[in-house]
This record gives sequence, structure tokens and C-alpha cells, in this order.
Amino acid sequence: MEEKNHTLECSIHAYAVRINFNCDNCNQHIHDASEMPTPYLQTEKTTHSSTINVENDLINCEHCKQSYGVELTKSISAATVEIFDLEDENNSLRITVFDDRAPTHCLMHQKIPIIDVKISELTGEILDTYHVYNFKHLPISVKVNDGVVDKKDLHEWFSGRRIPASREQINDVLQHLDISRTGMLVEKCFGLSLSDHYWIKPRNSNLDWEKINFFDNDFSEEIGNLLIGESSAEMIEIDLKSPDNTSDGVLRKRWKVINGKRCLIKAGSDPYKQETYNEVIASRMMELLGIEHTPYWLMLEKDEPYSVCEIFITKDTEHISAWAIKNTLPKKDKQTSEFNHFLTCCEALGIPNARTSIEQMLVIDYLIVNDDRHTNNFGAIRNVHTLKWLGITPIYDNGSSFWNKKILSDINSRRGLKSKPFLSSHDSQIKLVSSFEWLELDKLKHIDEEIRSVFSHSKFISKERCEKIILGVKQRIDELTEMIERSHIHE
Ligand SMILES: Nc1ncnc2c1ncn2[C@@H]1O[C@H](COP(=O)(O)OP(=O)(O)OP(=O)(O)O)[C@@H](O)[C@H]1O
Ligand SMILES: [Mg+2]
Repeated sequence: MEEKNHTLECSIHAYAVRINFNCDNCNQHIHDASEMPTPYLQTEKTTHSSTINVENDLINCEHCKQSYGVELTKSISAATVEIFDLEDENNSLRITVFDDRAPTHCLMHQKIPIIDVKISELTGEILDTYHVYNFKHLPISVKVNDGVVDKKDLHEWFSGRRIPASREQINDVLQHLDISRTGMLVEKCFGLSLSDHYWIKPRNSNLDWEKINFFDNDFSEEIGNLLIGESSAEMIEIDLKSPDNTSDGVLRKRWKVINGKRCLIKAGSDPYKQETYNEVIASRMMELLGIEHTPYWLMLEKDEPYSVCEIFITKDTEHISAWAIKNTLPKKDKQTSEFNHFLTCCEALGIPNARTSIEQMLVIDYLIVNDDRHTNNFGAIRNVHTLKWLGITPIYDNGSSFWNKKILSDINSRRGLKSKPFLSSHDSQIKLVSSFEWLELDKLKHIDEEIRSVFSHSKFISKERCEKIILGVKQRIDELTEMIERSHIHE
């Protein structure tokens, strides 16, 4: 084969050549299969008008061993890369070379431009940051030093917008969509969600928030069908404009408009699907105790149980996670407890009644034996326009409780019980609560009947399991009552 000239005259500092195509011979996706160390064929970075060199000139399909050559043709921003069949150079595929430095999107907060960013098409990650239009509306966890936005913080915050890799059955969904990472879905819905008001506007587009946000506008149900597990084998091209592409959490879930209200529908996990019922019981307990919460109810569809709750924000308010809140201030020293640090952050931000609301959350978590109150399972709500804080978000996601993953013999045992987010045991975490004056545990005296009634809808939870859970909950109520009485004696 004749030697190829792999150089290109250019006057732009850096280019990367993206290789991403299906093998002509066997249709294998080349890039994942290629032996290249990175998704890019990195070109030599130069500072002035000069030459870029393609490092690799051959790509092999790992599956059928077909070889392809790589050649840069043409020049500058409109340059293309040609991938050609070594045997038949007429059989070629052209790929555009992109300017590696240009922003691809502007991060927006409703109608307010915040910062220009470059987002990777392959991974959906923020690769670079550019001009900042508005510092005040930046996500609160992103630090700014001497007017420079911390790229790592922004990258980390944005990574939280993708469906986590731990989401149940996500690999089936990715396979169905023929994509490799959930991050690739974020851009398909412009990063819009139903938990806050940030989004990414493609550069040079004239998209209007009013016309695309999911608070006012319809969204596709197709990706939701897939994520919840109602996939249809024939679905080939699906509409990806949906807030389901940016939803967090491990459990299968989807957004749906029910009676005109945006509702989050969540499945339970095998084998007991107990999270679904737990949400409803925890809601009822909080209702009885007067704790502000997000109410959940049961829904049965095609014999599968789901918990459903209404959206807890509006077109003018947004939820910010405790993870973001706790990152607004550096943790001063090792002596400052996580609890105090969090409350200090809330105070500095001006979140009203944070201590009372958080203490109420710790009480319900003790009673229901919640083992998953991580810092994305609570947060606070603020006004999107004024950025004024309204309070702690009504308590949500209480499913991982009541010994939900435990086998029967381990229900009501303290063995292996963990708590979050401040201390790792419930017995110590409950001691962070400074006042129980508001708490009337008496209101829970008929909770056994309520638990029995909720679990009676489940074919996954035996009577024996239900009775053991009831016994366990009653014991926790007794223990907390005793603890409070003891603390009064010592006063
Ligand atoms: N009612 C709601 N309104 C708006 N956003 C919500 C609502 N409920 C949940 N969210 C957002 O969706 C995320 C996922 O929901 P949720 O925590 O209930 O799912 P999960 O799968 O049970 O999570 P985990 O992995 O913590 O068990 C929450 O962290 C929150 O940001
Ligand atoms: Mg959660």
C-alpha cells in the first residue's frame, strides 16, 4: 500500500478526530472495539498555525479483523477524516473533524445563560468551561476562585444529571437503545429535568425555555416505558425528549402526567418489592406525626406494584440536594461533625427551619429503620428567580427501610443495620436530635393496623414477614419513648 500523508495544514490550536462507525463487513461498532486507548485519535496539539498529525493510521475491527485506514483530508474547521476500506479505497466514510476547543452548549437556568461549556457527545460529560454569563445562578456546589469556575466541580455536578450506572436493568435499556452510557441520554432532552430548572442549550440554537421545559410541555413516554421495564421489542427509533433521561436513583422509575399532575412512578426491587409499600407506610406515619413529607400512594399496573408521588416543586421552585448544600462550604476540621457542618451550610445559605426539619427526618428514619438516607435523598427548595430558600424539601424516598432487604430471621435484629447520612448507627444518629417536644409517638398507636392494611395488597410479603415488621416497628416506638423519658429524667 502506498504511504499516506497524514498531515493537515491548520491554524487552530487543537483538534481531535472522533472515530465512531460500524464495520462495513460485520456491522460491529468500532470505537468500543478498536484498540485505541481513547475514544479520540488525538492529534498533535499546536499553538499556532501549523500541522496536525494523526497518530494512528490503521483501525482494525476486533470482531472480523477488517482493517480500515484513516486519513485526514481537506482543511481547517470543515476538515473531514476519511475512514476507508484498505482493499477498496472507494468504499469510504467521512467524518468531520471538530475544533476541540469550541463550546458546544450554554448551561442555562430557565432563561438565564450561565456558562458556555463543551459537552462530550460520547460520554455526555462536561469537558471544558468557557465564558461565564452569570455567577449568581451557577449550581451552588460549583466553587469560583478569583472569577474562575472550578471545572471539576461543574463536571461533578453535571455528572449527577445522568441516570446512575447502578439503576436497575439499565444495561437492558442501553442495549435496546444501542448506546454505551447513560450520559449520552442527557443531551437528548437538553439536560432538562423535573427536579430543577437547569438545562443545556446547544450553541447556535434558538431554543426557548418556555417551549421546551417539561413543567408546561408534554414529554415522550417512550423512554419511560423502557426504563420501567415495559419495553417493546419493535421499538426502534424512540423519542427521547423526556425528564426520565435525567432522573436519579437506583430503582426503576418514570415520570408520567396523571390527572394533569406530574408524578414520579417507582418500582420496587426483588424479591419483596417492599420499597413500594414502605413508601406508603412511611407517608402515613409522617402524616400522623405531623412531619412535612411527600405523600406516596400505591399503584398496581399489569400485576406489578408501584409507588407514586406528585412532583414536589413547581415552575418557580427547584430542589437542590443535600450533597450540593454540604459542598457550599469547606469542612473546617476533622472535629466538626457532618451534622454540624451541614447545618452551618444551611444557615449560611439562609435555609429556614433547617435544624427542625432535619431533626424530624432523623426521627422518622429511626422509626422506620431507613438505611439509605444518603445526601441525594434529602435537600432543600429555593425560588428559581429570586434564589431565596424556602425550606427543607418535604421528606421523600423512604423506601429503603423496615428491613426491606433482610430475610425473615434478620427482621428486627440490629445486626448489620446502618444509618445515614450523619452517623452510621441509628442509635447514635438519633442522639443528634436536640428536641422531641413536637413529637407525639402516641399518634402511632394504631400503626400496626395500617401496616397490615398496606402489606395486605402485596403478594410478595407474607403474613409472617408483615407481623415481624409490625413487631419491629412497635419495638422502635417503645425504645424511642423510653429514650425520650430517660433524657427528661437527666434534665
Ligand atoms: N416528587 C418529586 N419531585 C421532584 N423530584 C423528585 C421527586 N421525587 C424524587 N425526585 C428526584 O428524583 C430522585 C430519585 O428519586 P428517589 O430518590 O425517590 O429514587 P430511588 O431510586 O428510590 O433513589 P435511591 O437510589 O436513593 O434509592 C431524587 O433524588 C430527587 O432528586
Ligand atoms: Mg433516592
